[in-house]
Amino acid sequence: MRTQVGIIGAGPAGLLLSHLLHLRGISSVVLEKRSREYVERRVRAGVLEQGTVDTLVEAGVGERMLREGLPHHGIELRYGGAGHRIAFEKLVPGRSITVYGQQEVVKDLIAARLAAGGDVRFEVEDVALHSLESEPYLTFGGERLDCDVIAGCDGFHGVSRPAVPEGVLSVFERDYPFAWLGILARVAPSSEELIYTRTERGFALHSMRSPTVSRFYLQVPADAHVEDWPDERIWAELKARLESVPGFTLATGEIMEKGVTPMRAFVAEPMQYGRLYLAGDAAHIVPPTGAKGLNLAVADVRVLTEALAAYFADGSTELLDGYSAACLKRVWRAQHFSWWMTTLLHTFEDDDPYARRLQLSYLDYVTSSEAAATTLAENYVGLP
Ligand code: PHB
Repeated sequence: MRTQVGIIGAGPAGLLLSHLLHLRGISSVVLEKRSREYVERRVRAGVLEQGTVDTLVEAGVGERMLREGLPHHGIELRYGGAGHRIAFEKLVPGRSITVYGQQEVVKDLIAARLAAGGDVRFEVEDVALHSLESEPYLTFGGERLDCDVIAGCDGFHGVSRPAVPEGVLSVFERDYPFAWLGILARVAPSSEELIYTRTERGFALHSMRSPTVSRFYLQVPADAHVEDWPDERIWAELKARLESVPGFTLATGEIMEKGVTPMRAFVAEPMQYGRLYLAGDAAHIVPPTGAKGLNLAVADVRVLTEALAAYFADGSTELLDGYSAACLKRVWRAQHFSWWMTTLLHTFEDDDPYARRLQLSYLDYVTSSEAAATTLAENYVGLP
């Protein structure tokens, strides 16, 4: 079997790449270890930058997102007994975000790939990468797929990055001493906009998925287990952290899904080795506080599509050679922004009273200075 681009992973990065390449007349095969049901149900982030929305619309997969996604023009920072709105319409006019679940993006992309006759294979076993320096190929389940190029879109725990020989990649990482407990609940959001709240009990986030489904996160210890968090404990803790401003009551409902996400930052450089190009979480992870993970994956894929289109058009490798550097610029900006948002809003066990006062002072600055608020807003909605 032969294809132009062998893509490992049917998450947002792999599926979108396959579809964008298809629109340029470039063939690909997507290999996914999990089942279609699994990837379509996997609950992940939900904030799409304008650039991500535009890319999905241009790719012809934005119809349901435009219908069902929730446009947001601000977020709230809540701390010290008050809420403070970061008003995108004033600070970064014309730019906003759309709240739409990552697994909805995945469903839309799978449907589009299959409708266009795309080759997406689920539950593929033992994917391995070979001969990355030239004439690369993939093996899986007893088959062989020859490719011009391989795209590693198989996430942080995938097989692509470890296929790069020892010593080639430089790795930069940081593990945070806490995790996020995330839940999806059948209850109308208690707020029209996302609330990022900093309390002495830790951070909490009120997000949403639709007019009837809300999404919440709680900062919990890094070794927390969902079994230790029965529904009543989750709601009590969310109330303790979010009901910190006068007149705000958190509505509760049936919890449909629970999970603990470690808070980690990671970058592997360069995002390329031989004929292998890494995209999305396979190359970099950000803590979710800045809502950048999915958006970075889409940005990588946009750059890779242009580079591959040039390569397959006339053999030019200039854009492919610049792929890693082009992506890493945005990746590192997002690393800094995510670190900044995380340290601004979470409690750290080794914080002394001085550190807590500094944090509150910085929050006061961000919510009172237009320059500081603009920095937050322009990074949050996404740099062009
Ligand atoms: C989400 O809705 O899942 C979400 C929103 C904002 C974040 C992270 C996750 O910063």
